[in-house]
Amino acid sequence: MEHMDDPPPYPSGLRLAGRRVVVVGGGQVAQRRLPALLGAGAEVSVVSPRVTPAIEGQVLAGEVTWVERGFADADLDDTWYVIAATDDPVVNEQVTRAAEARRVFCVRSDDGASATAWTPATGRYDGLTLAVLGRREPSRTAAVRDAIVSALHEGTVAPGHRRPSVPGVTLVGGGPGDPELISVAGRKALMEADVVVADRLAPRALLGDLPSTTEVVDVAKLPRGSAARQEEINRLIVERALSGQQVVRFKGGDSFVFGRGFEEIEACRAAGVAVQVIPGLSSPVAVPGLAGIPVTHRSVAHDFTVVSGHVPPGHPDSLVDWDAVSRLRGTLLLMMAVENADAIAESLLASGRDAGTPVAVVCDGSMPGERTILSTLADLGADLDRFGVRPPAIIVVGTVVAVAHPGFYAARVGSSADSPWHA
Ligand SMILES: C[S@@+](CC[C@H](N)C(=O)[O-])C[C@H]1O[C@@H](n2cnc3c(N)ncnc32)[C@H](O)[C@@H]1O
Repeated sequence: MEHMDDPPPYPSGLRLAGRRVVVVGGGQVAQRRLPALLGAGAEVSVVSPRVTPAIEGQVLAGEVTWVERGFADADLDDTWYVIAATDDPVVNEQVTRAAEARRVFCVRSDDGASATAWTPATGRYDGLTLAVLGRREPSRTAAVRDAIVSALHEGTVAPGHRRPSVPGVTLVGGGPGDPELISVAGRKALMEADVVVADRLAPRALLGDLPSTTEVVDVAKLPRGSAARQEEINRLIVERALSGQQVVRFKGGDSFVFGRGFEEIEACRAAGVAVQVIPGLSSPVAVPGLAGIPVTHRSVAHDFTVVSGHVPPGHPDSLVDWDAVSRLRGTLLLMMAVENADAIAESLLASGRDAGTPVAVVCDGSMPGERTILSTLADLGADLDRFGVRPPAIIVVGTVVAVAHPGFYAARVGSSADSPWHA
């Protein structure tokens, strides 16, 4: 038996590639252990009269072998490591004794005190394997593991040597604004960058977490919208990459959804600069989702269309066929449309859309001031004025809005902030 004053376990990393490992038992515990063993390249043999459907799938895929019967001591011949994971303590004890006799380390799922090896809580970060062992306190070891892995991802624990800088440009889509909504890959690229070239709508809270050595170039300060601004950004990222720096071009949402990301890719390619893309959660889907509005719903909307409202209907520069848009039956998601919302609504109504079509305007999605205004196509312009709506906002047009807010459309039109149906 193990006592609190027993010596602690000796941590070691087993290199199991090509080595025989036996798992005795075919239930949930065995199933949970298999991925890490297979990931380590072990030749795994499962000994059990029955296995879960997931293990059976792995057997059929040729990933593990299955000895379809009860355990026999000779199963541990030529074995390097064994896990006793049956729900029968007598069988687990037999496995432990057979392992001891053969000098094979044995993990026991039911009785850590009788085991000769313990399974740590493990995590991975950037080529590191983290393992936390405690005295049979699985929730504590898992919590410590989680805290370390999160801290590494967030950059609050520095992983020692930074990887050597790889010159080039990485376009990182930062998601709709909440720093929690960037991808793990995006966050990692930010932490490893020499220079971050950040847009206005990128989740700027993340810039405060960067190492003090990272240079931040805030292109929000350049005049907006002009061709010269984009040329200046292209020139800057190319120049920095050619000088040997690892550049992150950091944007809101996804870089390829009204983000001018591909223009930057073309500039990099023309200059022979390596470039990669890390996608982000794009606002036309993510922002309604955060506000509890689905963009599709079974039997209601089987398509959704994302349209820029930056140029109003009828304007010579408009590339949008607004007549065709008005005939769509699914969900319409308008971006950059606050200023032209009145004109867009009028155009849709003139082309035959119903005046009572539900509309939701989700402003500052995922940010502290997030709010949703509920309206209809007929009242959209007046409601935007009434509630003082400013960009950024996603305007959702279609029945999915009423699916999310049924009471509101049965009752009245106004701000969901003061409505009982506000999510
Ligand atoms: C220049 S586009 C950039 C879109 C971005 N690349 C994306 O994938 O979400 C800016 C527009 O995106 C929408 N938008 C971006 N972030 C938003 C947010 N957090 N809340 C509401 N709308 C947002 C607004 O329609 C805004 O006018």
